[in-house]
Amino acid sequence: MKPKDLKSPLRWEERRPLIHDGVLFVPQYYQSHHEWVFPGWQSPEVFGRHAPIEVEYCSGNGAWIIEKAMAHPERNWLAVDLQFERVRKIWSKKHNFSLTNLFIVCGEAFTFSKYYVPDHSFEAIYINFPDPWPKEKHSTRRLLQEPFISEMARTSIPGSPLTIVTDDPTYTDQITTTILDHPSWETRFPPPHYVTEWENYGTSYFDSLWRERGLKIHYMQYLNKTGEAK
Ligand SMILES: C[S@@+](CC[C@H](N)C(=O)[O-])C[C@H]1O[C@@H](n2cnc3c(N)ncnc32)[C@H](O)[C@@H]1O
Repeated sequence: MKPKDLKSPLRWEERRPLIHDGVLFVPQYYQSHHEWVFPGWQSPEVFGRHAPIEVEYCSGNGAWIIEKAMAHPERNWLAVDLQFERVRKIWSKKHNFSLTNLFIVCGEAFTFSKYYVPDHSFEAIYINFPDPWPKEKHSTRRLLQEPFISEMARTSIPGSPLTIVTDDPTYTDQITTTILDHPSWETRFPPPHYVTEWENYGTSYFDSLWRERGLKIHYMQYLNKTGEAK
């Protein structure tokens, strides 16, 4: 299978939530998310079985999560990315490696979480190299702000980990401050609240790119204390 073998199932003017060929399409610029009824993780259209779910938001071309889904067939893996072209790459790898334990969401992370994900769905959440929006005037576009951090507390199981990886020191500081201020999360690492090496964590396109350029990678991990948004 090639990425282009995944066709966009709906024209823009027909957009609505839809599961098609192992991908949930979450429409953008759409007001009626609440009208769609999520069939449940165990539905044959989604994972088709009961198993712990680990989610990666901002999966890009899927290199990291494909490796995890292959290494842990006993778990369900969920890849989420905004861009259809990235989703196509994940989808083609999923088919080429015959992975039945990987489901893909083509949609914006906060919208997907808020309208589609039931409470306490996930045993682990990962975000590898979220877009840092380095210019101050663009910083409001960063995904890792209080509303999404609250959503992740609601949608993950109490006691479960949230792992965030970035090369960007400014984003590291902002994420650390925001999460430490939030009542639902506690850090796993003492100050400065990140480590720069993590054996066998796995790698991704941006991990390789930034390492080749000599950048330092920051791994943060937080534990969900309450399972509640606030
Ligand atoms: C810098 S890339 C990192 C990709 C991959 N995790 C890696 O390490 O190679 C950021 C990815 O996040 C996706 N993305 C950005 N904002 C998003 C959002 N709000 N919801 C879902 N995906 C998003 C982009 O489409 C892009 O694929």
